Amino acid sequence: MDNDRSTGGPADGLHFVPDPAAKEQALEQFATYLNPQKVRVLRAAGLDMIEAQRSGPWVWDIDGRRFLDCFTSAGSFNVGRRNPRVVAAAHAALDRLDNGNFLLCSREKAELAAKLAEITPGDLSCTMFGTGGGEAIDFAIKLARGATRRPRIVSTVNGYHGHTGFALSANGRAAFRQPFEPLMPEFVQVPFGDADALAAAVDEHTAAVLLEPVQGEGGIVVSPPGYLAAARTACDRAGALLILDEIQTGLGRTGRWWASEHFDVVPDIMATAKSLGGSLVPISATVFTEDLREFLIPNPFIHLSTFGGSDLACVVALEVIAVMEETDLVAHAAAMGEQLLAGLRSIAEAHPEVIAQVRGLGLMAGLEYGEDSMGPRMSYHLARHGVLAVYSGNQPAVMRLMPSLVIEPAEVEFLLEALQRAISDLVSGAGPEEPTPVRPRRRPVRSAPAPAG
Ligand SMILES: Cc1ncc(COP(=O)(O)O)c(C=O)c1O
Repeated sequence: MDNDRSTGGPADGLHFVPDPAAKEQALEQFATYLNPQKVRVLRAAGLDMIEAQRSGPWVWDIDGRRFLDCFTSAGSFNVGRRNPRVVAAAHAALDRLDNGNFLLCSREKAELAAKLAEITPGDLSCTMFGTGGGEAIDFAIKLARGATRRPRIVSTVNGYHGHTGFALSANGRAAFRQPFEPLMPEFVQVPFGDADALAAAVDEHTAAVLLEPVQGEGGIVVSPPGYLAAARTACDRAGALLILDEIQTGLGRTGRWWASEHFDVVPDIMATAKSLGGSLVPISATVFTEDLREFLIPNPFIHLSTFGGSDLACVVALEVIAVMEETDLVAHAAAMGEQLLAGLRSIAEAHPEVIAQVRGLGLMAGLEYGEDSMGPRMSYHLARHGVLAVYSGNQPAVMRLMPSLVIEPAEVEFLLEALQRAISDLVSGAGPEEPTPVRPRRRPVRSAPAPAG
């Protein structure tokens, strides 16, 4: 295998002068001008780092500490952080392009859409670009409603699809939705993994069923065998569409290009984002069948996004896909995922008092701890042992381990050893110490301009 996957790492050494004072200043400024509670929560969980150097699966805090990044912005750094080939492609693109005029046809958009048609499952072949995951889901839902002329969208409890309008309406966690109600009408949620509940919710009013093949924010919950196939059947029976949200699970994360391939199910609409931009530029894509494109033919301007699929981002995304193909990154992710999950299972067997369950697919692994409070405490201990790992947004007892796919066997071992040390710390009752509070500064008040004259 062409192993030009290596994207730097600890051997690279430190390329900056550690600056703990700059870190405190940044945190204080963040607390003042963004959100002090965010700083407090992150500090309590040992996650109050300010990212400085980034390379392959590693990241360095501005104070000089090195971490194996197992959060990766929830699966955004599949080709590694600042992958050198992708960075070079971005530099070259900057020398000759800009975002492009969104209203015009673009060579870069056309090339990326053609590539997506090649690498996505079944008869998915047409694309609408966006800038982020929520936007990709919003368009998927618009397309489903527009093409079927039906109102209802069925999603799942604890599902996560972003915070934009339609996507938020489909969010499976009430706490995210309630402050903004009333949201879009005709959105219903059923328990994830229950094929009967799903089938019962799908009828002649249903435009689409929206699912993550593996719930990410919901706590790394893999679709049970037969579930996606049952969803496909329920949709076909009712004339509804199946939308798969592969924003976290796609682009090799689960050891296949798309998680749906594990289940032999082809959706009508699929959303991808995050890693598509190589962690350098924002881009998302909603990919769908040619039949559904009929809805857009009479009005090609019915959905627009100024920066969606910008020329620069398309060039970067094409290079991301080229790197993945040429370095056989998906097969590598499958092998590393096996090593990781096997290691996690043997640690779990040795520590049933801490780990209740290990689950996952490929390099999308979840550790369910015995109780909710262990999530933040384990983040804290893992950080002390050089691993950046974050508990799940919708399930604090579940820790997500989603390293870059360029991770090598020795780095998987590093993670497993750090986990064992963190568990010993937790069991022995070490830390977290009371974190030093960060106080927001008083904001300087700009004096009003002196009246003229
Ligand atoms: C499965 C899934 N869908 C959608 C989104 C929303 O993506 P974005 O934050 O880019 O809008 C996310 C983000 O974490 C996600 O994990």
